[in-house]
Amino acid sequence: MAVREQKEKVIFRKRQKEDFYRAVREIAHHPAVLEMKKYPQHGRTSCYSHCLRVAYYNYRICRLLGLDARSAARAGMLHDLFLYDWHQYARRTGKHFHGLTHPAEALKNARRYFRLNPLEQEMIVKHMWPLTLFPPMRREAWIICLTDKYCSTCETMAGIKARLLG
Ligand SMILES: [Fe+2]
Ligand SMILES: [Fe+2]
Repeated sequence: MAVREQKEKVIFRKRQKEDFYRAVREIAHHPAVLEMKKYPQHGRTSCYSHCLRVAYYNYRICRLLGLDARSAARAGMLHDLFLYDWHQYARRTGKHFHGLTHPAEALKNARRYFRLNPLEQEMIVKHMWPLTLFPPMRREAWIICLTDKYCSTCETMAGIKARLLG
């Protein structure tokens, strides 16, 4: 019985990963999105890896809760598509509010390359709440606020640990 349950769990996880990949495939291979690999996000994590991680957690949580997991995955993949190194942004542009402005920048870029539904747009533009003014209206948008903060924290901690261990 335990072996059978184990096998079912493995099959379920494999199918879930395949479904996730199908949901983000169009976005994950787009040249503009691949460009995020050039930019560091938190610690040693690139913007692309960060978005992929947020997308996957979004997908799993939303699927578990019976929400729109596909849109949640797509929005996760695009939520930080601002396409610059934010560590040098203030020095280069004189603007000091990357944290506040990048969701709108990411949405603008995402809309340039993809057709997004209203939920995906809300998730991208509100993912930094409460830094940004308007709170999320849909449950998926609340979830990206949490997954983004969780992933950001883990990535930052991993970066600190790697630096300390040399
Ligand atoms: Fe962000
Ligand atoms: Fe993020």
